[in-house]
Amino acid sequence: MISSKPLDIPCSLQERKVLEKIALAAHELGVPAYLIGGFVRDKLLGRRTKDMDVVCVGDGIALAHKVAESLGNNIAVNFFKTYGTAQVKWNDLEIEFVGARKESYRQESRNPEVVAGTLEDDQNRRDFTINALAISLKEANYGTLLDPFNGLADLDKKIIRTPLAPAQTFSDDPLRMMRAIRFASQLQFTIEATAFTAIQENAERIRIISQERITDEFNKIMLSPKPSVGLDLLYKAGLLKIIFPQMIDMVGVEMYEGKGHKDNFYHTLQVVDNIAENTRDLWLRWAALLHDIGKPATKKFEPGHGWTFHGHDAVGGKMVTRIFTRFKLPLHDKMKLVKKLVELHLRPISLTKENITDSAIRRLLFDAGDDIDGLMMLCEADITSKNKTKVKRYLENFELVRKRLKEVEESDRIRNWQPPVTGEMIMETFALQPGRIVGDLKSAIREAILDGEIPNTYEAAYAFLLKKAGALNLTPVK
Ligand code: CTP
Repeated sequence: MISSKPLDIPCSLQERKVLEKIALAAHELGVPAYLIGGFVRDKLLGRRTKDMDVVCVGDGIALAHKVAESLGNNIAVNFFKTYGTAQVKWNDLEIEFVGARKESYRQESRNPEVVAGTLEDDQNRRDFTINALAISLKEANYGTLLDPFNGLADLDKKIIRTPLAPAQTFSDDPLRMMRAIRFASQLQFTIEATAFTAIQENAERIRIISQERITDEFNKIMLSPKPSVGLDLLYKAGLLKIIFPQMIDMVGVEMYEGKGHKDNFYHTLQVVDNIAENTRDLWLRWAALLHDIGKPATKKFEPGHGWTFHGHDAVGGKMVTRIFTRFKLPLHDKMKLVKKLVELHLRPISLTKENITDSAIRRLLFDAGDDIDGLMMLCEADITSKNKTKVKRYLENFELVRKRLKEVEESDRIRNWQPPVTGEMIMETFALQPGRIVGDLKSAIREAILDGEIPNTYEAAYAFLLKKAGALNLTPVK
């Protein structure tokens, strides 16, 4: 009956099949059902999406069970009784079912008091007009777009607008302030002026939201095509100073004796956009965001010289740990990568034509290891000068550094390299227990190879070890 009817959104055959099964199950249970939210929005925008939200006027969990049954044996239903929601996974689709509801929120919490409602009640309580669009799965008007707030026109005009008065929508669920900014950055939409003012007025309410949810939205902004859009909106909305005060410390230009420094906040935003043009890797984008985070703490005006930020790379590296902890970001490999890139971000720039020696290149390869390509990408993104001659000079220099990196890597294989004489070998040779002497001998060998003093071979390293150990009155036991 339903299968011949067209839908107002473009869907694949598989998606059509699922929607027909949902419609049939809802019909048999006698509950009107609708496809709603992000799936409808994204299909209309031509974006990829695999998450379907289905709202029904009745019991969402019962509908989920019936749909799962009709999709095949062994299809599990995960349900959350307290929220009245249920989820079914089928192939690569995730379908979420919920009963239509009316909600009212308490001032101190984002957990709503929920009562059953109509489709209109449900659409009213949604965050944005573009997220309140619904497709009917009822037999009478199957496939029809239901758009009470002109969400379709807002999609067309690229506007983020709330269905109800913005202050109410944001105060009801303050996470929506971050969602508005995230959608603006992701979709390159504009937040309607009254909605943006309401965000500014309600910014403090973000404090009741859990860090995990804030981080999730923040990372979506970081992954958007031009993250500076969202980051600048977070700043202008007054949200950034609450969720990420260290970024605010970078805002502004200080003048002294007629000399100013660059605005490190806007410079950083530019660097994040630059790197975003070359990579979708979230952690390289985070490294760009944090590369100069140590600048405010190290800023000094040195008479006769101007503004300096000595040691901002090392200080910034230390701050990475604190920021990752605050944001509840992965503290192992991801944090280590970002910290390493922040600490090393000045190294390739500091190599000028005169001092691109083999040993300087070897040291850089040794310190950066497999992250050398990410580091070079960060350094190139860091060039934001408006002076075309300077930019040209920097880029040429990087080209030279890259060329030398390749040459030295090909001849020395220094990435992820370990010296040919290990700590165990040193202990065995001189019958030593683990301790400082072993460490000192090991690093002397490493330094000698990195400096090009001896070749990177076992024989040369062993001979060097005997000489160094001899000076300490150590003799080999075998
Ligand atoms: N929603 C809302 N308020 C929120 C979160 C969600 O009103 N704080 C509603 C919106 O109608 C949204 C739907 O619930 O479209 C589904 O939410 P979710 O899956 O979190 O977001 P999507 O809009 O689908 O977008 P994305 O998948 O990009 O997160």
